[in-house]
Amino acid sequence: MTLAQLLPSTGIAAPPVLEEALWPVGTTATRDDLVIGGVSVSRLAARFGTPCQVLDEATARSRTRAFRAALPAAEVVFAGKSLPCREVYRWMAEDGLSLDVCSAGELALARSVGFPAERILVHGNVKTPEDLKAAVAYGVGRVVLDSTDEIGHLESSARAGQQVLIRVTPGVDARTHPAVATGVEDQKFGFSLASGAALEAVRRVAASPSLRLVGLHCHLGSQIRHVAAYEEAVRRMVRLIASCGVPIDQLDLGGGFAAPYLPGETPFDLGGFAHRVRVALNYECQAHHVPVPRLLIEPGRSIVANAGITLYRVAAVKHTATRTFVAVDGGMSDNPRPALYGARYTVRLVGRTGPQAPVTVVGRHCEAGDVLAENVPLPADVRSGDLLAIPATGAYHHALASNYNLVCRPPIVGVRHGEPRLLVRRETEEDLLRRDL
Ligand code: LLP
Repeated sequence: MTLAQLLPSTGIAAPPVLEEALWPVGTTATRDDLVIGGVSVSRLAARFGTPCQVLDEATARSRTRAFRAALPAAEVVFAGKSLPCREVYRWMAEDGLSLDVCSAGELALARSVGFPAERILVHGNVKTPEDLKAAVAYGVGRVVLDSTDEIGHLESSARAGQQVLIRVTPGVDARTHPAVATGVEDQKFGFSLASGAALEAVRRVAASPSLRLVGLHCHLGSQIRHVAAYEEAVRRMVRLIASCGVPIDQLDLGGGFAAPYLPGETPFDLGGFAHRVRVALNYECQAHHVPVPRLLIEPGRSIVANAGITLYRVAAVKHTATRTFVAVDGGMSDNPRPALYGARYTVRLVGRTGPQAPVTVVGRHCEAGDVLAENVPLPADVRSGDLLAIPATGAYHHALASNYNLVCRPPIVGVRHGEPRLLVRRETEEDLLRRDL
């Protein structure tokens, strides 16, 4: 019997076990607090208010190191859409990563921190004339072409010799949520491999007087657990390379590596991925008599998701005939992922412990679907004023946040060596009113 099981019989409640994989590295839980990056989250909530996103620098940077160590010969490209924040882009630049941007806005952020242009890849199935203009003006290293129309648009605006990759839809089902499954046929991204559109695009770009084809790209989707999907993509992409008839120096396998969100989930098998993908790549290239291209990968979520947590204050508790609703001061405006993808989270009460009971944590927005976590255990006496922490909120939270109900978006507070630092300030009503003329 564990100590935690013994304690209730003595009348003392132990804090629920901290699932380490979900929280920033080194997070410690005491009976009345949670310490992240050496900083008490109760103090953070008191100083910066709630809701508040907290980002642990050491965790994000340990992930960049893990990717670079697992694939030392590969180019690791941070998917900037997962956490568009100047300081995070700075960390990525310092840690030697490249950057994937998919709009003039993300490019402006990168530019504002002097992210090296040659290490920027421009993505997206729609690049507006403004996006392309900004990309060309900054002299970005590579543009990833997504449609025949775009090839023409870039040819007419790019500098001579602009390096490009072609995005291919390889027809690989990575078994993830349909809203983020992008490797399968019959969808808006890329050039289909099966239909021959990809090969046609290769021929078109190879013959272009102004563009220089350096590689092929595919992105299977997001929150992918199965390494086998990447192996299959490698096999298909190398076969395509072999049929291209022109040298292809780079193979970009995109991102999508899963992050743990719930107790019992484990981080993506990065070591296994690195080994199996390298073996598949070398084998296929040898079998098809083509030189081994340089590998690129584009992780986003797997670098920042578990570096972030969100703090909320409980505003109200309601008991109905069937369940307990715990309503907090944020919701689908800072986390639309449960509503969009059926994403599930775990929740921890900070400051007290006690016998647990299942509750539904809901947001403040005017929709019944504004649910942050369903059927999660919290102390049965949870009440207004309590502080809640939700882990694994570093990726696609700040990025997806909205002003629904004209609620101000939360700040991001960075923590490092026991010091908090405001990275993105809380939005104000003045910010909200500024655009409305
Ligand atoms: N490369 C490309 C071309 C992408 O479109 C994406 C993500 C990535 C890399 C990075 O994927 P990651 O390693 O972060 O899975 N909003 C959704 C996720 C959308 C992903 C969009 N593309 C969510 O909250 O789950």
